[in-house]
Order: sequence, then structure tokens, then C-alpha cells
Amino acid sequence: MNQPAMEGLRLNVPAYVKHARLVSWVAEIAALTEAADVYWCDGSQEEYDRLCTQLVEAGTLKKLNPALRPNSYLALSDPSDVARVEDRTFICSEKQDDAGPTNNWMAPAEMRALLQTGQNALFKGCMRGRTMYVVPFSMGPLGSHISHIGVELTDSAYVAVNMRIMTRMGRPALEVLSEAGEFVPCVHTVGAPLQPGEQSATWPCNKTKYIVHYPETREIWSYGSGYGGNALLGKKCFALRIASTMGRDDGWLAEHMLILGVTSPAGKKYHVAAAFPSACGKTNFAMLVPPKAFDGWKVTTVGDDIAWIKPGKDGRLHAINPEAGYFGVAPGTNYKTNPNCMDSLKRDVLFTNVALTDDGDVWWEGMTDEPPAHLIDWQGKDWTPQIAKETGAKAAHPNARFTVASTNNPVLDPQWDSTTGYAIDAFIFGGRRSTTVPLVTEARSWAEGVYMAATMGSETTAAAAGAQGVVRRDPFAMLPFMGYHMGDHFAHWLGVGAKLAATGAELPKIYCVNWFRKGADGKFVWPGYGENMRVLKWMLERVDGKASGEDNLFGISPRYDDITWSGLDFSREQYKSVMSFDHGAWQQELKLHDELFNLLSPRLPGELLAIKAQLEHKLAA
Ligand code: OXD
Ligand code: MN
Repeated sequence: MNQPAMEGLRLNVPAYVKHARLVSWVAEIAALTEAADVYWCDGSQEEYDRLCTQLVEAGTLKKLNPALRPNSYLALSDPSDVARVEDRTFICSEKQDDAGPTNNWMAPAEMRALLQTGQNALFKGCMRGRTMYVVPFSMGPLGSHISHIGVELTDSAYVAVNMRIMTRMGRPALEVLSEAGEFVPCVHTVGAPLQPGEQSATWPCNKTKYIVHYPETREIWSYGSGYGGNALLGKKCFALRIASTMGRDDGWLAEHMLILGVTSPAGKKYHVAAAFPSACGKTNFAMLVPPKAFDGWKVTTVGDDIAWIKPGKDGRLHAINPEAGYFGVAPGTNYKTNPNCMDSLKRDVLFTNVALTDDGDVWWEGMTDEPPAHLIDWQGKDWTPQIAKETGAKAAHPNARFTVASTNNPVLDPQWDSTTGYAIDAFIFGGRRSTTVPLVTEARSWAEGVYMAATMGSETTAAAAGAQGVVRRDPFAMLPFMGYHMGDHFAHWLGVGAKLAATGAELPKIYCVNWFRKGADGKFVWPGYGENMRVLKWMLERVDGKASGEDNLFGISPRYDDITWSGLDFSREQYKSVMSFDHGAWQQELKLHDELFNLLSPRLPGELLAIKAQLEHKLAA
């Protein structure tokens, strides 16, 4: 640390901050990064508005037309900084074996030398010329026994305003922390220090990127990106990677799951948690509008991306949504696919990488059938339907996002902020598969459900940098988000189930779904979206022991007549094509399960191998 900078730096600690360890950590990071100033976020509306105004002045945000999209802004990122960078994401456990073969690993001492302590450590002086924002936040309702506190130090005001939407951010989180509470320290920099007098880029970032987790010390260090899950460290880094490790150690689960409430016409309320890989429709499912024929059924959103699930005193699994907002994929969202989401986005939104209309509003592919005649695209260039035809240019980046508070959602569950969480009735696991995996199957046992979740595959999407549409195993939809060895995660799930079962508790049912089967014409066969309610209803009737189904290779599935079809023209033939088991495809599928299991051995629980042996036996019969 260079002395004059240290002497000149004031920490600006507000009088209400009482946590000495927090203050000394802030001082340590300010010294390391040589931040020009330190600002403590209080989380107020006034502060949010002020930071947004500063971001408009800096050219990072554009204020949208207040008559069309009140209190909303658009950010266009650097074209190289548009998605999570899985190949730059590291789990730095002491032992490589604890990170497992599905994570990138580096020894903590080596990583610390690279980032913090070495002569040319990346964080040394990385905030020169910039303000360091201290962003305290609670993941989960303030004061809930299921919640945890984090503090992110970041040199990005864009991150600070996003964190205010996505978490319970500011002074109230510090009040929970009080004088000596535990917090997860999260350090983030865009990695673009400024020389004296140098003007910042509108979207500062660095070609070099590191998204680093130290599970033993529960720390997060993120370098070089300003985007989404790379930079909003409460989300994937804390609420999944670090929290999954906390859960393993303390007997709970941190999962990549939406949570929804479903109320039947009889007034019975169910709660379902569902895991899908990124950009597979979690936000749509979480805000589902039941079809007309399902009069009296009501779906409410608790969360759209992450669930923290802890055993409750009643012996059941209780879930909370640790987040307070949605960071959802915009393209494809419209009044047909997700009307509640469209209504949530009417105001108070931060958009990133969508297109700008001539009247100062936003547009993305799929928002309307007809695109506007002219737009400014996500790279700031002129865009017309003709240009798109000629060059294939997208108006919005396929991973363009909106950040909006949960409270904007018209179907937000009234108890979404409950500190005790909801008892879960069913878990759903679903991938994006054009072939092979049927529309819905119920596991016959907890272990079979864990097998389904463990062997899930999905075609890759734009949410992560890299090739798209390639089937990869994505166990529990957690492949990019696991903080420890995936095989241990399977064992942890089996262990949580066994522990609850030993108390005589009723375990949630587990389902495997696939909304994405395609026909010979390459089109989706299942209509999806609100029609998924038909599948959901069957599941909930099964929870109540009311619906029947038939045994198949993989579990229990509804027959055509077990599903309510009124109001939808879906033939037996079509149903067969989304439900059928192709023997050849399943033989191939089991080989892929094998590959995963070999990769994870010797930490793969034997119970899963036994289930696989049963499947092979059935397939051979
Ligand atoms: C997300 C993701 O942003 O899964 O939720 O990528
Ligand atoms: Mn996600």
C-alpha cells in the first residue's frame, strides 16, 4: 500500500456502524485496493436515486422515458462482459478433492498470491481513482434464522444499485449484524483503476476475470467483470456457492430453485421448489398464470432463482427465498409467456443489454410479434428488422437482463418475506432436453428422486459464456454453482432425507420434468408456460394421494386421462410423443450417467449406483 494514498484516505464510517471487525476489514481492503474514497450504502431510496443519477452522468445508465417506463434505466455493457464466466470461476478449498472434478480449483495460497499478496497481485491498487462502496446486505428476510448477512465491497455503483434491488441492502442489514455478528466478506472490483484525470469507460471491466470462492473461510473475491452473477456477489457466489458449503456443514440446503405457492380452489395452499438450469424458464414458472379452465387455482411467487431450505421444528423442510428481487432474462418474455413478469417490469427497473426504442423505452426479441422499425441495439448501434435479416444482429443480447424488486410482482406471495419460511410439498427438477426425458415423472423414493436430480442433463443457454445448445450433465441445476464436491452434495441430500425420515416426517415428493421435448419438425410439442399448471395439478394431487399414474422405467408418470385437459387441444398422440421412453435413447442416456458417476467416484454414494443398476436391469428386460 502506498503511504500517501493511505494517509489521504478517510473511511467515512457512519456513526451507526458498531462492528469493529467490519470496519477494520473495510480499512484493510481500502488500503489494498487504494480506493480513492469509501462510501457506506444505507439502502435508502434517496441514495438509490442519487447513485442512479450519478450513473446517468457517467454514461453507464440511460434514463428511460418516464412517461413510458417510470423510474427505469438502461445499461449497455462492454460487449465482452455479458454473462457469467464459468471457466474463470474457482472454488479454492484447501484440498482439491473437496472442490471436486466439476469445479475449477487453485490452492488458496496460490490464488491469494495472485489476487492479494503477490508482487503484482490483481487487487493491489485495483480501485485507484474510484470510490469503494460498502454494501451490507441480508440474504433472506431480515432477522430470519434461515437468513445470513454479507458485505460486498465494490468499485461499481451499478453493482450497488443492483444489490439494493436484489437484496435487503443497507443499514437494516448492519443492524442485524450489530457489534459482532457473522458476515460473508465479498470483495468485487471491475479491475479498471484510473490514472489521475483519466475518464472512466461507461462500462469498466477487465479482460482478465477471476470469480473466486474460499469455502473454508467463506470469502468471495471477484475481479474484472461488472455483470450479473460475476458481480452481484449475493446471488450465485454467496447464496449458492458459499451457502451450499454452509449448508453441507450445518445440515441444510442452498439450491438453484424457484419457490412457488399454489392454492387450490378448495383453499389448500401448497409450496413447491423447482430447480432448472439458467435460462430454462424459472421466472416464467414462478409467475405462472393458470389456464382459464383452472378457475379457482392461484399461483403466487416466493422466489424465482434460489431457495435456502432448512429442516424446521415440525420435521419438515422449510424454504426461504434469500433474494429480494429478480435478475431475469428479458428476451422471450412477453404478455403470452409471462404476463405477470411484463407487469412487474412496468416501472422501477434496471435493464441491461436490451435495445432502446426511439421514444426512450426498451425492446427485446420476443417482446412483441412485430419489432419496432428502428432501435438502438445493445451495442449502441442502429438496428432495423432489415439489418437483422441481413446480418443476424440481435437487438437485445440473448442474455439481456432486467433487475426488479419482488414487490413489483403482482402475484408476489403475501408471505414471501416470512421469517419462518414455507414447508415444501414437492421438489421439481427439470432440464432443457429436445429428446429422451419425458414430460413428468415422480420418483418412487427419496433416493430415486436424488438420482433424477443428480443425473439431470440440459442443453446449454446464453446465461453462461460458451457454446450453446450442447447437452451437459447439470446435477441439481447446480453444476456452475456448487461450492464443494458434487458427489458429496448427492450424499448430503440422501443424508438430509434419511435424517428427516428417521423422525417419521413426511418427505416432499420429487419430480423430474421436461417442458422442452421437440417433435420431428423441430418444434416444441408441449405448449409450456401456463399449461404447465396441468402437470403441477397432477403433482399436487399425488401429494394428497388423490391422483393415479403408471409405473415406468424411471418412476411414476400420469396416463393421458390422469391429466386435466379442458381448454387445451392436446391429442393422445402428442401426449405420447412427450411421454414416451425410447429404449435406444435411454441406453445412451445411461452411458452419460455412467460418465458422470465415474467422474465423481469415489465420492459417489453407493445408493445411486444401486438405482442405476435397477434402471439397467429394467431397460434390459
Ligand atoms: C441466473 C443464472 O442469472 O442462473 O439466475 O444464470
Ligand atoms: Mn439462476
